[in-house]
This record gives sequence, structure tokens and C-alpha cells, in this order.
Amino acid sequence: MCGITGYIGFRDAYPIVINGLKRLEYRGYDSSGIMMYNDKQIHLSKTKGKVSDLEAITNKEEGRRKGNIGMGHTRWATHGVPNDVNSHPHFSQSGDLVIVHNGIIENYDTLRKELISRGYVFQSDTDTEVLVNLIEEVKKQEGCKLGQALQLALNNVIGAYAIAVFDKTKPNEIVVARLGSPIAIGVGKDNSEFFIASDASPFIEYTKDAIYLEDEEMAIIKLGKAIQVHKIHDDSIVDANIQKLKMNLEQIEKGGYDHFMLKEIHEQPKAIIDTYRGRMLPDEGIIRMAGIDDNINKFLNAERIIIVACGTSWHAGLVGEYLIEDKARIPVEVEYASEFRYRNPIITPKDIVIAISQSGETADTLAAIKLAKSKGAFVFGICNVVGSSIARESDAGAYTHAGPEIGVASTKAFTTQITLLTLIALKLASKKGEVSKPELRVFMQEMQLIPKKIEALLKIEDKVKEIAAVYKDAKNCLYLGRGFNFPVALEGALKLKEISYIHAEGYPAAEMKHGPIALIDENMPIFVIATNKGHYEKVVSNIQEIKSRSGKIIAIVTEGDTQVKEIADHVIEIPETVEALTPLLTTIPFQLLSYHIAVMLGKNVDQPRNLAKSVTVE
Ligand code: G6P
Repeated sequence: MCGITGYIGFRDAYPIVINGLKRLEYRGYDSSGIMMYNDKQIHLSKTKGKVSDLEAITNKEEGRRKGNIGMGHTRWATHGVPNDVNSHPHFSQSGDLVIVHNGIIENYDTLRKELISRGYVFQSDTDTEVLVNLIEEVKKQEGCKLGQALQLALNNVIGAYAIAVFDKTKPNEIVVARLGSPIAIGVGKDNSEFFIASDASPFIEYTKDAIYLEDEEMAIIKLGKAIQVHKIHDDSIVDANIQKLKMNLEQIEKGGYDHFMLKEIHEQPKAIIDTYRGRMLPDEGIIRMAGIDDNINKFLNAERIIIVACGTSWHAGLVGEYLIEDKARIPVEVEYASEFRYRNPIITPKDIVIAISQSGETADTLAAIKLAKSKGAFVFGICNVVGSSIARESDAGAYTHAGPEIGVASTKAFTTQITLLTLIALKLASKKGEVSKPELRVFMQEMQLIPKKIEALLKIEDKVKEIAAVYKDAKNCLYLGRGFNFPVALEGALKLKEISYIHAEGYPAAEMKHGPIALIDENMPIFVIATNKGHYEKVVSNIQEIKSRSGKIIAIVTEGDTQVKEIADHVIEIPETVEALTPLLTTIPFQLLSYHIAVMLGKNVDQPRNLAKSVTVE
């Protein structure tokens, strides 16, 4: 978690760093800080709250904004409550070194005690201040330069980090290092300027040339010199691989929408097309996915597929389980990555692990992959962020190509993950002879209609707003679905919880009788997915059970439905499609509903409290 950004070069650093922090606020936003170097001094500004609160401070004094070198940080607290003192950047005791850090130093307490015994006094409760003082102590003891001191210090550190350190006694360089948390370096023309950030978004308008550090690598960024990348543990030199960025500025701006979440909801038709483009070839009756084609025997001989993920990606994984088992007839298990990695699971080389992650940086998912690989399983990654840690760590994989997702509540990542899982299920099904070419062709043609159907569905926004106005003050809500739409019920409830802070639970509709039914009274809104495919009559019976207990029913039905309309308090119609594709449609009204309830309640939709987009701590 946390976002770090920095600049060293010939431009004013302040606007680059502060705007970079705004773009990285999805990574954490409980406090923020910035350091600027000018007049041979480090000027530090930091505060609890959002980057806009920080700006209010820096705007008061020019000295806080001046200079061609700067580093900034937006925090998601781990060690130490979010307050001004615990905000980054942190000074070393002498005041010479300044650090920004994303990650956790697990052995910070031992190191802190050691440093206290050597006379260090700590201002904050953070593990980060321990790290910067450790670097300072090593530098003093060894009489070495910053780069070497950092390297020696990191060899004594257990934990995860992406860090950037500046030394005011050598003000033409910044040293960065990575283990477990991402860091990108933007390279300016002829090495005349460099940008540092947790992802490339802060510097996209300045350079398209970027180096992504790998784990256990550090880089010495020196003005006018080509970047040197070293291994932290043995000092060997690594080739600095400069990649060309494809992202553009427009993709990371709101484009006229009030919130990123709403923009991203509306981007889904295009995002889904981008996911299947070039992969689905209906005329030829084939699905092309290099990551599977190149390893087809592994997939066909697999005894089991284990899907690992967290949060919304885990919900997409559940839809994947239904799809792969139904279409390809391969046994699938879906695991929370955080449980899987610690529960001593049985994994064999005959297993395929599919890791799903929008960011590609979720610490638990990454650890689950490493565990699976160590047991000989083949790991296939489904990520959105190109070049992310999970994408790199996987044996093979596929990108969703949804474009940057910035709203903390995941929307287009979910539907594009489902799209990709559908393609995987169909591809494996066809390779195994479980579906014929004509069947596959019909299915693909149906898939091609989904973006237009979502577009049509997005036009019901006014109706969703009316429903949102009726239920916005509810204290508890229940979401019910069956079959392919059970995970959509879970996801619907999660969306509402995340951004409106209303308690909501998702349940398989039939399980309602085993507990949640006790909660139902006339104040309880119950959102039920009752499309005309998949156990329709059974769901109608569940709706009757709710009605008999005076619950309020908001049902998602297929266009033209008459039966549910008579019983439900509100209905939202979705266009007709095949059962396996209904999650791509039924999820849309739930996303819009959560969005509008949160807006009506005055909540911060894109940055809900306590959450972060990219969870790089376990
Ligand atoms: C956080 C985000 C969720 C996301 C989850 C997994 O909790 O707030 O929206 O689903 O992490 O993230 P990933 O990037 O691995 O999909």
C-alpha cells in the first residue's frame, strides 16, 4: 500500500510530485507528505489527511514548493496511526537523509531497540524511521556512500519495501530499492531527468521510457548518468531494461465523469471488447490465447485447477469455477489467497493455479503463487496491470486489457476478469471436445453482443437512482443469487459495503433459509437475481418466502418477465442472454446502485475510508 513519487531533473519538481501523489491516492490516502530540496535545504511538509490537505499547507509558503528535486508519499497506515508525525517522508536523525517507503519492515522492533542503544531518538512510531536511521548508522559506521549504505542496511531488513532515499550531502542523486512492493523509474531524454513512482501514472505525460525494478533490486539514479541497477544481496549489476509505456494521460483522467468509479462502470462495454479482441475468432470457431496454447498439454493433463485471488477478483474466480467446471469439466477450487498460503494446502505438479489480480501486486496473491510454484504447480496469471509483479511471477498468463482502474471499488476489472475466464473455459472445453465448433461459434457470437447489451443496461441509470433514493438509509441489506449469479450476489454486497458503509451480505438464494431469513422484516431490502435462466422457479419460490416475511424485494429479471414483477417491490430488467454470460449483465445494476447510494449519502466514492486499491501488505 502507500504511493511514492519523486523527481530529480531540470523542471520544477513540485507540480510533478504533488500531481503524482493525486494519481497514486488510490494506494492509500490517510496522510501524505512531500520533501523539496532548495537553497541547500530539505523542506518537509506533511499532514494527516488527503493530498488536498497537504496542498493547503504547501500553498502557504513558496519555499515548500521550490526546487528541482522532490519526493512525496501518500500513506495507508501500517505501523503508527495516521497523524502528521507518522506521515512520510521521514528524516534520519542527522537530518541528512530523507526516505519515502511503501511496505512493512517486520523486524523493525529489534532494529529500533538496537538503534536506541546507539543513541538514536525516534520521533514517530513508524518502521520507516527505523529504516532511514539504520541506513544512516551503516553509512556512518562504514564511511560509505548512500547506495552502499542502503544495500548493507537492507541486508539486515526482513519485510517488504519500495523505497526512495535522498541524501542532502549528495544532492544530485536518489537511490531506490524494491522487495515486494512496486517501483517504476521514468527516464528523461539523455538522462537529464528522472521520475520515481509506485506506478507509471505520475510521469506518463513526461516520458514513455520506464524501468520497473524487480524484487531485490536497487537503482542509483544520478543526473546525467545512465541508471545503474544492482542486486541488493550480492551487488551484481543487472541490465536496466527500459520499457515503452503504452498508457496515455486520458486513460487516467475522469473524462467528464464525477468519479472514476462511474467512468469505469461506463467503460465496461469497451473494456470487455478489449479483453476478447484478437482472442475470439467466431468465424473460424477458435479461441486464441497464447498463454494456454503454448502450454496446452499442461492444461489438458491437469487434475485440478486452483484459483487464488482476493476481494472482487476472488468473486470473479468463483464465476470462473462455475464456468470451467460447467464447460470444460475440469475440477476447480477457489481459494482466498490469504488462507491458501498459510494453510499448508496440498498442491502437486498436476495442479494448475490461476491467480487473478487487477493490480497484479496483491501481497497475499503473490505469496500464494510463490507457494504453488515451489510445489511444482504451473501458475497462470490473470492481471490487468501490465508488467505487474504477479504477471511477471506467473509461468504464463493473459492480461484483461481493461485499462487503468482507479476507483477503489473494482468494476470493470471484475467484468473483464469474467470475460477472460469465459474464454479460458471455452478454450479448454473445445480442446477437450466438450463443445463442438458450431456451439463455440454461437457462444462467441453471444459474447460479442454483451457490450451492446451493457450499453443498453447503462441507460437505466435514472431508474437505479430512484431505487437508490428509497433504500439509501437502510442499515442492512441482503443480496441473493444462485448458480452463476451467486458470486454476483457476493460482489453486489461487497460494492455496497465498500463505498456506502451499509452492512450487506451476499448469499446463495436457497441458503437464506439457514440463517439470514431470521433478519428479514419490513425494513430489510433484499436484492435478488432472478433471471429467466438458471433455477428460475426456485428463485421465485425464494422471493415468495421473503414476501411472506414482509421484506422489500428488488429483483433483477430478464426483459419481459411477468411473474417476478407481480411479487417484487422493484424490478430491473436485463437483456436476454445465455445463462453463463448473465453475470456480465446482472452485476451492472448492482454497481450503479452502490454508486448512487454512496453519492446520495455524501460518501467519498473513489476513496472509501480504510480501503486501498492495491493491497501490498499481507
Ligand atoms: C483491494 C481492493 C479490491 C480488490 C482487492 C484485490 O481490497 O480494494 O477492489 O478486489 O484488493 O485486488 P487485486 O488487485 O489483487 O485484484
